[in-house]
Amino acid sequence: GDVAVLVPAAGAGLRLGPGGPKALRPLAGEPLLVHAIRRVAAAPSVRMIVVAAPAAEVGAVRELLAPVAPVTVVAGGAERQESVALALAAVPAEIEIVLVHDAARALTPPRLIESVAAAVRAGHPAVIPVLPVVDTIKQVGPGEGGGPGEVVLGTVDRSVLRSVQTPQGFRHDVLASVHGSAAHAHTDDAGLVEKAGLPVTCVPGSELAMKITRPLDLILAEALLAVP
Ligand code: CTP
Ligand code: MG
Repeated sequence: GDVAVLVPAAGAGLRLGPGGPKALRPLAGEPLLVHAIRRVAAAPSVRMIVVAAPAAEVGAVRELLAPVAPVTVVAGGAERQESVALALAAVPAEIEIVLVHDAARALTPPRLIESVAAAVRAGHPAVIPVLPVVDTIKQVGPGEGGGPGEVVLGTVDRSVLRSVQTPQGFRHDVLASVHGSAAHAHTDDAGLVEKAGLPVTCVPGSELAMKITRPLDLILAEALLAVP
């Protein structure tokens, strides 16, 4: 393999409700992070995996993952972007392709990891998996006289919109330079590359790469795991 995968897993999982850090929450009897890492490790391109764990759980995560795959575990930061930067610091310069992949997308199939890596290898500096948007999307604003209800300002043309997943893939030098200069918070790493004026290329995403965010997502993920 010629790829390093950074796995930010240091979040609290507040939207999932009470129960500890999301990466360690059980999904069909195993921590979410174990499901995620097993799939990352199954992708043939992957040479190195760096997990950013909650600072208080670094030792526990090392023990948890030791039987699953060879991983480097570092302490994450207060924001996702910081966790990514801390994990990136552990990647040696000779690895030229770096993927950033949320632990919360625990059921992401190895073939999606391969397709993102392949697109970077083919020469694209930044690559993201995307899906079409299924809902109608409207822009809203405050109602007349500042009442409680929002009003619709317009309907966005859905055909030009995409939902963005992970893993997001980058040339190592590109990711390092945008993270080095990152002044503003972004919800994804490709957003930093866009700001720098570089092209970001889309590949087809996967419904299995859904982000486990709310309690309903956990139920959905358990159901997906039960599909033969
Ligand atoms: N993440 C991280 N470090 C942080 C915040 C988030 O490594 N300081 C990781 C999460 O562990 C997750 C991924 O970034 O794998 C995507 O974040 P999200 O789904 O928002 O997870 P949480 O931040 O844990 O959830 P919430 O926002 O509901 O608290
Ligand atoms: Mg979060």
